[in-house]
Parts: sequence; structure tokens; C-alpha cells
Amino acid sequence: MSEVVRQDWRAGRGTALRGSLLVPGDKSISHRAVMLGALAEGTTEIHGFLEGEDTRATARIFTQLGVRIETPAPTVCLVHGVGLHGLRGADEVLDCGNSGTGMRLLAGVLAGQAFDSVLVGDASLTKRPMRRVTDPLTAMGARIDTGDGGTPPLRLHASAGLRGIDYALPVASAQVKSALLLAGLYADGETVVREPHPTRDYTERMLATFGWPVESAPGVVRLSGGHRLHAARIDVPADFSSAAFFIVAATIIPGSELRLQAVGINPRRTGLLQALRLMGADIREENPRDDGGEPVAELLVRYAPLHGIEVPPALVADMIDEFPVLFVAAACATGRTVVRDAAELRVKESDRIATMAAGLRTLGISIEETPDGAVIEGGALGGGSIDTHDDHRIAMSFAVAAQRASGEVRIKDIATVATSFPGFVELARGVGMSIDGITGSSRQ
Ligand code: S3P
Repeated sequence: MSEVVRQDWRAGRGTALRGSLLVPGDKSISHRAVMLGALAEGTTEIHGFLEGEDTRATARIFTQLGVRIETPAPTVCLVHGVGLHGLRGADEVLDCGNSGTGMRLLAGVLAGQAFDSVLVGDASLTKRPMRRVTDPLTAMGARIDTGDGGTPPLRLHASAGLRGIDYALPVASAQVKSALLLAGLYADGETVVREPHPTRDYTERMLATFGWPVESAPGVVRLSGGHRLHAARIDVPADFSSAAFFIVAATIIPGSELRLQAVGINPRRTGLLQALRLMGADIREENPRDDGGEPVAELLVRYAPLHGIEVPPALVADMIDEFPVLFVAAACATGRTVVRDAAELRVKESDRIATMAAGLRTLGISIEETPDGAVIEGGALGGGSIDTHDDHRIAMSFAVAAQRASGEVRIKDIATVATSFPGFVELARGVGMSIDGITGSSRQ
């Protein structure tokens, strides 16, 4: 038997949320800024970089590949680019930790290199599907071995040259789109990616910022190999997906009035705002502006009673990371909320439909799972013990749910919150949420 140190939270009914807060930088943008900065010529300056475990893992991997990265101040990152062909092979495996974005986008970058690489991840990442990237990369000429069942580790063999592809994504996925575009930088000819629904467009926007010609229209992106990337300054907005926990918390806790500063409101990320407004939420966008090429605004969120809705399937891709906390909003709403066309939730850091359904049931909510969604009946939340399945967004969603619970909620295994939202507890307590960290150990 071995001793395993567990970190849990104890959370319960909090007070009305008040004040103003700035959540950490956007995870998707931070990953891409390090990657393109590494492949560019010159020094890329990233401001507002997310110092989370996921993005730090990506930065560490580029260090292993010969890129010098400095962090002269908190959330400032200087990436001394080595140019498109300047990476060198690492002696050791490249550990993406918990990050699907890190692994899938890196597969695109490494598929075109003249050296072998091995990408590995933690227990959760090692269960996630990778054929969605390795199949089209193989069609471009890459040679990649996966584990049994198409899961990590990924062994990428030295490239003998890639060719462009015209590929229609079977599922809407910004990660797969981005992997193919990054491989396309190394390919002969044109790479075209077609999406069933438009997804977050940070890779194509950032490639343009780094001077690579990209043609992009809703649902289709094209680029050709044979250009160069030039270092840029990247200002990372606050992560909408991190802000989402506070948006829902302020909406469901009576008397709340909370301001969220400088939040990235790219329309491909903010489907939750539309869904919550359909449910009756009171969320205002103030001082909308363009900050380093990304739309940003202050969000003023006031408590509002919610009612259930059928979540429009057209919003699913634009709120794909926000369903766990949307389920919490639905549990606090009057009536029934129906989610469908969201089967992708089953292959995130955990099976988020099953994990949320089990947790909400524990707290006394009636919820029916369907293959691609759930039917949630709003009701009264009680206390109980929640298994997060080591999923950061499940942990933070139940911290929000606990603020409306009549009993204590114990949220087990919250260490992965550090992958995307370092400092969550301190910020949450600072605006009035009731949440404490507890360290325990268990024998396994
Ligand atoms: C991401 C894309 C989404 C999202 C993930 C981050 C990205 O994944 O869930 O958290 O940065 O491109 P999929 O592309 O698999 O939907």
C-alpha cells in the first residue's frame, strides 16, 4: 500500500458575491503564443501568460526542444524563437501533463520535424482519443504510433516530408484544426481545414499576427507552407472559461453583484453568455474593446432567478468547456434544462456528462443522462461528497454549486485546478464564496 496525498475542498453556502476580480490569462491563447513564439524568428513577448500547469508543460517541452524561455516577471514570458526549422530533438519523453491542447497541437508541430519525439501525459490524458489528430496527420505523410486504442503515448517519427491536405473535420474541434494548420506550416502545398461548426479561431488569428498568410472564413481555413513566422507581442486576455465559474456563481447567489475585468469575449468562446441570458441571467458587457487583436470587455453580473431552457445545439461548440458550470446553473433554475448534441463532453478531462450527473445526483438533483447530453430538473441542492475524477472544471463547478447547498459539500481531488486556474480559492474567497482547502491522505 502506498500513501497518496489528496487535496480536497470543503465548500458551503456563501454570502452574496461583491467586488471586482481579474481571472488568469487564457489557456488556449497562452499555449499557442508559446508554440508560435518558439517557431518564429526573434523574441516573442507574452503578457498575461497563464502560469498554469498545462501551459507550463508546453513551455517546458519547448525548452527541451532547444528554445530559451524566460519569465522576467509574473505572467510575462519571453520566448526566444528558433525559427521554423530550429527545434532540436529531445533525449527524453515530452510530458504534456493533463493537457489535450498541448498534446494535440504539439503533434501537429512535431509531425513535420526531422527528429523523433515521444509525447506522454498523465492518467487522464492517457485515456483521451488521439486518432482524431493522428489519422489526418498520417494522411499528410506523418508517421505516428499511438498506444492501444489510439490513446497516448504518441511516438512521432522523423518526417520524410509532409504534403498539404483538404480535410473535413468529423467533429468540431479547434485542437484538431490547429494541429493540421501547424503541420501545414511544414507541408508542401495547401492545407485546407473544414469544420462542421466554427470553433475557436486563435491559431489562425495568431498565425496572421506572426506574419503567416492565412485565409479564413467561417468554417474553412486555408494556408500554404513555405513562409516564415516573425516574433510578435501577444497580450493574453483573461480566460472566459475561468470567468465562467464566477459568472454562474454571481447569477445564482441572491444579492450578488460582481465585476469581471478584461475578459476575452471572442464569440467562439462565449456561448455560455447566450445560454445564460436565455435562462434569464443579468450580464452586461461594459467597455468592449480590442486588446491586442482579441475582443475584451468588463462583465457586470447580477443575481437573477433562472428558468430552464433547451440549450440551442448551435451554441454547443462556443461553450464546449462551460457545460459543467451550465449544469450547475440548470440545477439552480426553475424547470427543466435539456442539453443535446454535446457528445464531445464524454471525451474531455473526464466524461463530463457522467461526472456532473453523478455529482448533482449526490446533491439531490434529478438528472437524466443521454448519450449526447442530459435533462436536468432544477431543484434544491443539499450537501454531499463529490468525486471530481481529477477534472479541474468539475471541481470548480461544484465549488459554485456548493454556494447554494443547504449542507456541506466535500469536493475530492482538486489538485488539477492548478492546470487552468492557479489561485482560484483565494479569488473565490475574496469575493465572498465559502470554500476551504483540506489536505488529507488515503491509502491505496
Ligand atoms: C481547446 C479546444 C477545445 C477545448 C479545450 C481547448 C483549444 O477542445 O475543449 O479546452 O485550445 O483548442 P476540442 O478542440 O477538442 O473541442
